[in-house]
Amino acid sequence: MDYRGKVVIVTGASSGIGRVTALDFARRGAAVVVVARREALLRQVADQCQAVSPKSFDLPGDLGDRSFAEHVVDETVRRLGRLDVLVNNAAVSKHKHTYHTTASEAEDVMRVNFLSCLWTTYAAIPPMLRQGGGFIVQVSSFAAKVPPPREGLYAASKAAMNAFSEGLWNDLAGSGIHVGIVHPGPIDTEIWDKEDEPPSYDGKKHPPEIVSDAIREVIERKRFEITIPRRSPQLVAARVMRLLAPGALRRGMAWMEPVPDELLERARERSRKGKRLGESD
Ligand SMILES: NC(=O)c1ccc[n+]([C@@H]2O[C@H](COP(=O)([O-])OP(=O)(O)OC[C@H]3O[C@@H](n4cnc5c(N)ncnc54)[C@H](OP(=O)(O)O)[C@@H]3O)[C@@H](O)[C@H]2O)c1
Repeated sequence: MDYRGKVVIVTGASSGIGRVTALDFARRGAAVVVVARREALLRQVADQCQAVSPKSFDLPGDLGDRSFAEHVVDETVRRLGRLDVLVNNAAVSKHKHTYHTTASEAEDVMRVNFLSCLWTTYAAIPPMLRQGGGFIVQVSSFAAKVPPPREGLYAASKAAMNAFSEGLWNDLAGSGIHVGIVHPGPIDTEIWDKEDEPPSYDGKKHPPEIVSDAIREVIERKRFEITIPRRSPQLVAARVMRLLAPGALRRGMAWMEPVPDELLERARERSRKGKRLGESD
């Protein structure tokens, strides 16, 4: 596919997968609009994109705010006249025991990881309809298919994204707008350093380039879903077990990261004091 003259939005482009994806599209000639909160980092990515694709620019802001998420699409169309590809990649990780999580924290995760993708998608459909088509690519997670312990909330936000996108795929029939999902397994980015509680996984992590390649494959081959890395024995085994022996898989995952007795005891203690989940002693 010739990306020259195309307009691409990449959310969560200040680091990791989003950064690599933005640079990849820019090198291929697309005007790339990069979005995230950390202005200085985002500026650096925008500068690198501009060096090879001068119409690229940055829009710093918080995608957890609906008016900003809508503004990202509106401003892109206002300045560049069209929107060909929307990559919903921004997300926050959440590896934290439910006993330690507050309801407002849960809302924040759903707002950034799921609702922001819904808001940008809703804003993108009318301009894509006007121009006769476009591509919406959701960066989900393998965790939505097989939720690891302590990640129910993160997995739920990505599972919501998946269900929304599957419904959308049906609803957009005949519109020329293609929606697809990429489900990465463990990828080597700074997301692992941002966890509230240390994850038990310390196995191989794959380069973010495999995700940007998959994003382009969704577009170029009109694929609906891609799970990467493709031939990872762990991911294949987890998917097969999920299908054939879901109980055994759940017990196996729980065994990998058990709930310590003292953690449960502290939660009981707080409950006796009338505390809500996540409230400190
Ligand atoms: N790395 C993995 O192992 C892995 C596995 C499966 C799925 N994924 C998914 O891949 C995507 C990219 O993650 P990554 O690994 O590249 O992690 P990352 O380096 O932490 O990137 C996350 C990006 O999202 C942005 N972001 C977070 N909250 C935001 C907000 N409220 N408003 C705007 N931007 C926000 C961050 O920028 P600011 O902090 O500057 O806002 C950052 O650019 C995520 O959707 C993640 O769930 C990653």
